[in-house]
Amino acid sequence: MADAVLSCRNLSKTYRTGAGVVTAIDNITLDILPGEMTAIVGPSGSGKTTLLSMLGGLERPSAGEILVEGRPLKQRFSDLSDYRREAVGFVFQAYNLLPHLTALENVLLPMELAGVPRRQRRPRAVELLAAVGIGEERYHHQPARLSGGEQQRVAMARALANHPPILLADEPTGNLDGQTSKQVIDLLHHMAKQTRLSVVVVTHNLMVAEEADRVISLNYGLIESDERTALARFDFVLRRLRTQRSSLSTQ
Ligand SMILES: Nc1ncnc2c1ncn2[C@@H]1O[C@H](COP(=O)(O)OP(=O)(O)O)[C@@H](O)[C@H]1O
Ligand SMILES: [Mg+2]
Repeated sequence: MADAVLSCRNLSKTYRTGAGVVTAIDNITLDILPGEMTAIVGPSGSGKTTLLSMLGGLERPSAGEILVEGRPLKQRFSDLSDYRREAVGFVFQAYNLLPHLTALENVLLPMELAGVPRRQRRPRAVELLAAVGIGEERYHHQPARLSGGEQQRVAMARALANHPPILLADEPTGNLDGQTSKQVIDLLHHMAKQTRLSVVVVTHNLMVAEEADRVISLNYGLIESDERTALARFDFVLRRLRTQRSSLSTQ
């Protein structure tokens, strides 16, 4: 689809192990749209993490191709680390904040690495921490002094520091209680809608799947089902009409 942020075409991943070849992802084709929150669900071992890792440039596909805004990833980015730095934010189950840095420093770091001018870094970090509901009194706390929910909020702020169009999250609520999970999910959903961010979240949590615009179910590395909510379907049809109209007008 013309306005897809991220697509994969005939994507496969196989691993060679002592016991033979494991097909973790088996010929998957899909488009991720801007502003859409997609949940990837499926039993353990169905390929969720492998798919997310390939979408995020953490693993190379064995076959098939990834497109970023319609162009092959390999053409747009000279290497995968550029892609990861510029286009994708990651959120993990275990938060993965740097333990010796404060909340604020954790959010500043990706901007420093990306060469954002010093004067712009702090206002951006403050804006993001406010957006995820971390108050000033927490800025100078190291992760060990924050609750799980607070750490995950800081991790979300960090992931968004460089304005990536895509946020990938692997079991972001896996270590959180029900109420905190709900807050983190609401926040992901809110971010997707407010900034047209594409959010792809791997989850076992039914609540996440309920809140998503689209639920893709994997089994044995294959897409078993791919469903949008009624509202997201409506939006999808509108987009398709718009794309058709604009391609007609350029013909
Ligand atoms: N590095 C690896 N080496 C060998 N097999 C792997 C590796 N990573 C994943 N797999 C296998 O690929 C399949 C999918 O794994 P994964 O993507 O982690 O599933 P999920 O996240 O849905 O639990 C599983 O059979 C798993 O054992
Ligand atoms: Mg997994």
